[in-house]
Amino acid sequence: MIEGWMATCRMNELLRRKPLPMILAEAQADGEGGLRRALGPWNLIALGIGATIGAGIFLLTGTAAARNAGPGIVLSFLLAGFGCALAGLCYAEFAAMLPIAGSAYTYAFATLGEVFAWIIGWDLVLEYAFSTATVASGFSVNLVGLLAESGITLPEAWVNPPVNVPAFVAVLLVTALLVRGIRESANFNFVIVLLKVATVLIFCGTAAIFLFRNPGLAWDNWTPLVPDNEGEFGKYGWSGVARGAAVIFFAYIGFDSVSTAAQEARNPSRDMPIGLLGSLAICTVLYMLTALLLTGVASYRDLDVGAPVAMGMDRTGVRWGGMLVRLGTMFGLTTTMLVTLLGQSRVFFSMSRDGLLPPWIGAVHPRYLTPHRSLWIVGFAVAVIALLFPIAELGQLVSIGTLLAFAIVCGAVMLLRYRHPELHRPFRTPLFPWVPIGGILVSVGLMASLPAVTWYRLAGWLVLGVIIYAGYGRKRSRVREAVPGEAPVAGAVHG
Ligand code: ALA
Repeated sequence: MIEGWMATCRMNELLRRKPLPMILAEAQADGEGGLRRALGPWNLIALGIGATIGAGIFLLTGTAAARNAGPGIVLSFLLAGFGCALAGLCYAEFAAMLPIAGSAYTYAFATLGEVFAWIIGWDLVLEYAFSTATVASGFSVNLVGLLAESGITLPEAWVNPPVNVPAFVAVLLVTALLVRGIRESANFNFVIVLLKVATVLIFCGTAAIFLFRNPGLAWDNWTPLVPDNEGEFGKYGWSGVARGAAVIFFAYIGFDSVSTAAQEARNPSRDMPIGLLGSLAICTVLYMLTALLLTGVASYRDLDVGAPVAMGMDRTGVRWGGMLVRLGTMFGLTTTMLVTLLGQSRVFFSMSRDGLLPPWIGAVHPRYLTPHRSLWIVGFAVAVIALLFPIAELGQLVSIGTLLAFAIVCGAVMLLRYRHPELHRPFRTPLFPWVPIGGILVSVGLMASLPAVTWYRLAGWLVLGVIIYAGYGRKRSRVREAVPGEAPVAGAVHG
């Protein structure tokens, strides 16, 4: 009987929720030991775009069109964008209500309990840190290609794993900028985002003019919009559109990292929804336009190449076009690394403040007011991974990790609405509960369409996380100290 009681106590400890007043007090802790509130709505929109437009649109679109969706790739972008909008609305509700750096990790702590919060925090490493490493790899390939076009050849042995120097250096430079300050990082991001959006628009404008002059070619390439399925799930047809959406979902990853900047926003309750949903809307429109025009300029069967958008530009006959797109891609990848790394460091910062990671990780730099240790640890680890391993194939692991976080945030919004309907919510997800339910269904549906090996990797990663939690965080949780007693499962959270 005593053993049963102790097991219940332990279970209650694992499911201990972080009280909302504690979260709100931390969110308001400006000054001493706190982060700097320097970001306005435009910075936040730019951060979202900075994280989002990158390898996905410039490099993956062609493969997904050629192998899965054909010209229907434009519908895949619509579908994936719709799924992200459902999750984005849920993120917006939380980020406006709990403007704290931990994002999905903290939302899970407030609603599901400590062990789930840890699992989500650990899962976010897949989204933020691994996507930074994946994008660093793409950055290196792109840089080598760009230099080769200009007649400069870098030694093979230095630009490929296990010695991928450009990827290593790029991640460290980005880390140094992030350590220097949130304002400096946001300003750099803003300028680069303008350049990369300009690149996408120049591609779209050039391709549109070309197709206007060659309407027959456009018609041939666009019909049928959804080519007949070739007898295998995901090979064209509507299943191809769905599989294409799962593949290019990677292109949307990152807009949610706006929520990790909530503790650095000047007016989070108003600006978080603007940053999250504004950047997502802009990216969705740009992606659909790019996909449509790309599959008009070139037959989808020709698009299975490393840099399809640059190839599409070449097809329009504009000689400087391909080079310009490659340059734009480089810019794009730089800010993707910047913002996803920012997101990862803020999640670790929050986990450390809660005692689930060592406290020194959460230290804030006295002058720059950035979580410098968290940044250097994450930056160095990601740089080493990018240096040593061929990681391009981990893109699907990044996607499944992100989709899991999306599904949990949608579930957590519902849970908190039912448990605490009285809380002040500066932004409310419309059409409740259909939006979060839809977000869960789309996220789980996209997860289901990823291969079994990706699921095994996800499971392995989460098991590793649980082992680390059992060995460290479980015993050192600060929330446990703050909320003593062994049975807080029902009713620890007060609005
Ligand atoms: N969405 C980011 C990219 O496409 C991760 O590179």
